[in-house]
Amino acid sequence: MTGAATLLRGRALNFLSEPEGPEDSAAHVYFEDCGILIEDGRIREVADFAQFAPRLDRLHLVDHRPHLMMAGFIDPHIHFPQVQVIASWGAQLLDWLNTYTFPEEARFGDPDHAAVMAVRFFDRLIETGTTTAATYCSVHRASAEAFFAEAARRNMRMIGGKVMMDRNAPDAVLDTAQSAHDDCKALIARWHGTGRAHYAISPRFAITSTPAQLEAAGALAAEHPDCHVQTHLSENHDEIALTARLYPDARDYAGVYEDHGLLGPRTLLGHCLHLTARETAALAEAGARPVFCPTSNLFLGSGLFDDAGLRAQGLVNAIATDVGGGSSYSMLQTLNEGYKVLQLQGQSLHPLRAFHWITRGNAVALGLEDRIGTIDPGTEADIVVLDARATPAMALRMERAQTLTEELFVLQMMGDDRAVAETYVAGLARKAGNGRD
Ligand code: GUN
Ligand code: ZN
Repeated sequence: MTGAATLLRGRALNFLSEPEGPEDSAAHVYFEDCGILIEDGRIREVADFAQFAPRLDRLHLVDHRPHLMMAGFIDPHIHFPQVQVIASWGAQLLDWLNTYTFPEEARFGDPDHAAVMAVRFFDRLIETGTTTAATYCSVHRASAEAFFAEAARRNMRMIGGKVMMDRNAPDAVLDTAQSAHDDCKALIARWHGTGRAHYAISPRFAITSTPAQLEAAGALAAEHPDCHVQTHLSENHDEIALTARLYPDARDYAGVYEDHGLLGPRTLLGHCLHLTARETAALAEAGARPVFCPTSNLFLGSGLFDDAGLRAQGLVNAIATDVGGGSSYSMLQTLNEGYKVLQLQGQSLHPLRAFHWITRGNAVALGLEDRIGTIDPGTEADIVVLDARATPAMALRMERAQTLTEELFVLQMMGDDRAVAETYVAGLARKAGNGRD
């Protein structure tokens, strides 16, 4: 696709590395008046706006002042068939799955329903500034087809996979070890590496897979080492106890996945709330990525993620929404709740680290930092434009904000989709601008 080069003007923030603390100003670059030059879906040049003065007559200029531009947000754990499960009352994990989630996911066996919901799912991501997500589809191949087709229509860098589940759920959401293997093979052949799509091998969790199915998942991971693997680990005490009964020979919950070849640097492990020291060491050894899902962990009453403890053991943690266990699509609201979860443990999430986390940090956790997560020249032009005065309460607070860090913290604690003025996907404005291919 070739088009006239676009120049975005506004303030801009880019991360070079993870900020080591509040005083670490070497980890980011901030531009008071920035130009981001976009051509063919990629960022070509980032510089003070004045540098572009001689070329302005040849560029399509979009002025986003006084807003703040940065890389698009990355959500590394979300469930596409749970768009109508979000905000379901009163249950903890296993009851919540059986009462609300499995029956709802059964509806995604209908390709027409899956296609309609895929449009609405991606609309929610765009409105909240999320440009990449690692996504669980339902067990049905049709749901993954609908997910990837809609992502392709929007040219979004998306990771997804059908969940594999062959026991402990209603028949309408079960596959078999063999059918899951065959469906995943077909989906990988069709979608992985097509455009901006990545396939994630997605055994839902140990409880809903037989050993034979986890073996099939491990075989797929070995055959396709560039695919991600995503699953859930150690979210809830009843879940951990049932897993121990179903896998009596495993050392522990993490050992179940380890024994089936499912732990590696491309493995994303949702939750990781109640790990033993042995499990933490096993994840660190494998380079697997724990994924902190704060709104979900609070909503389902699951527990508190020990970010500092896991990091001290060498783990690289991601942060995600986990919609529909999670209660918001917004990565800003996810930071808000994440801040509070860490406060309860005497850990405080500095705003520079927070915004690094939902951009470059999650890209590093996904192994995609060469393409997304920054506004470095050469990377894909997935960009959010943020308005820290989007609501009256935010505007009132901003009257007393004097630094970038204070502004970021207002966005982190008070922001949601209303604070996202625009979302660019591969260079096209997809929210207010309603960009078309
Ligand atoms: N564990 C297995 N499936 C799920 C799910 O859909 N959501 C959450 N939060 N945990 C799970
Ligand atoms: Zn989940």
